[in-house]
Amino acid sequence: MIRLDKFLCETVGVTRTQATRLLKEKRVTVNGDIVKSGSLKIAEDADVEFDGASLHLSGPRYIMMNKPEGYVCSHEDGHNPTVFILVDEVGADKLHIAGRLDCDTTGLLLLTDDGQWSHRVTSPKHKCDKVYRVVLDDPISEETADVFSEGLLLRGEKTDTLPAQLEQVSEKESLLTIHEGKYHQVKRMFAAVGNRVVGLHRESVGELVLDDSLEPGQYRALTAEEIALFMPRK
Ligand code: URA
Repeated sequence: MIRLDKFLCETVGVTRTQATRLLKEKRVTVNGDIVKSGSLKIAEDADVEFDGASLHLSGPRYIMMNKPEGYVCSHEDGHNPTVFILVDEVGADKLHIAGRLDCDTTGLLLLTDDGQWSHRVTSPKHKCDKVYRVVLDDPISEETADVFSEGLLLRGEKTDTLPAQLEQVSEKESLLTIHEGKYHQVKRMFAAVGNRVVGLHRESVGELVLDDSLEPGQYRALTAEEIALFMPRK
């Protein structure tokens, strides 16, 4: 248990006096009720909100988002909105993205402030499968699956892509599984076989599948089981 004013100091980054003021201004709720007393003892995982944004005491945070089209995966961009403006959490600026997606790509995006965890998600060493639903401009040629499964040298790279699996869904649509995340990898792989990606959606990363109840732009915290999918197995 922890005093509410101390909880606010640690999560919002304010002084005890400022926390008292926020409480007086009725900007803080605990389990949905406005609370004005800083001395209230709350559970460390209580549902506390400040100006409508949820507060989490400590520990790393892990979020999955259904990334919408037109948002960039960086903290700042001169042209497009960033995915971080969709994250209504105090301290969203401390999160980073584990495996960025292009501005026009949609689907499973992972945000965290745990650098080791994101390294396990993104490092090719951990061979974390990423499955993309890909819509192409032209019909998928016969040799595409073989070329991808053998690995190919993309322009400007020193090493071949790792073997990737292509499952054709229809004439112009496929599910592609890759095990690394080179820059614009999927688009460049299809460009290398003379085709063009016109729609790209990430469905899963490792065993973690995008929650289909999340509308584009929505996100939720990962469950303990989902977080553990990327932890070393004991
Ligand atoms: N490959 C791409 O080309 N773009 C992405 O956003 C993800 C994988």
